[in-house]
Amino acid sequence: MKKIMFVCLGNICRSPMAEYIFKDMVRKLGVEDEFSISSTATSTEEVGHDMYTPAKRCLTQHGIRFGKHTARQFTLQDYNESDYIFIMEMHNYVGLCRIIQDDYDGKIYLLREYDKKCRKSKDIADPWYTGDFETAYSEIRSGCIGVLKHFGYNTSKL
Ligand code: 4NP
Repeated sequence: MKKIMFVCLGNICRSPMAEYIFKDMVRKLGVEDEFSISSTATSTEEVGHDMYTPAKRCLTQHGIRFGKHTARQFTLQDYNESDYIFIMEMHNYVGLCRIIQDDYDGKIYLLREYDKKCRKSKDIADPWYTGDFETAYSEIRSGCIGVLKHFGYNTSKL
């Protein structure tokens, strides 16, 4: 069982999108039992809130199912219990280190680290500020495919 945690600043746009996109992919691959998948925020700004409406609209347009989401902040317990922590942008690393002090087990990765399509910035721009949920969706999607390929899955049908 691989325990995956997606992290962004607010946990209402990018990290819940990544959580539900990744859940959809492992369901399609028939390997959902091999994963525990969740998402959290580095900040307390949106704690308790549902996913942002435009993020939900974007997922719906792409046929991605999602459940009731409640934003919460990342904890030291999350760090200890996760196998892989995927951040949306390098700045999230700074936010996480305010909570955990240091990535002492080396399990924090940029989501697009394994994304072969990614030639320029590996950061996923925040659609909360850009308003561009389609770009965020497509970058998160390629990041998730990169991760699954790295884990050794055949992603050609995704
Ligand atoms: P996210 O976007 O990190 O992709 O969830 C944000 C949503 C809200 C805020 C920041 C980022 N906020 O500061 O309220």
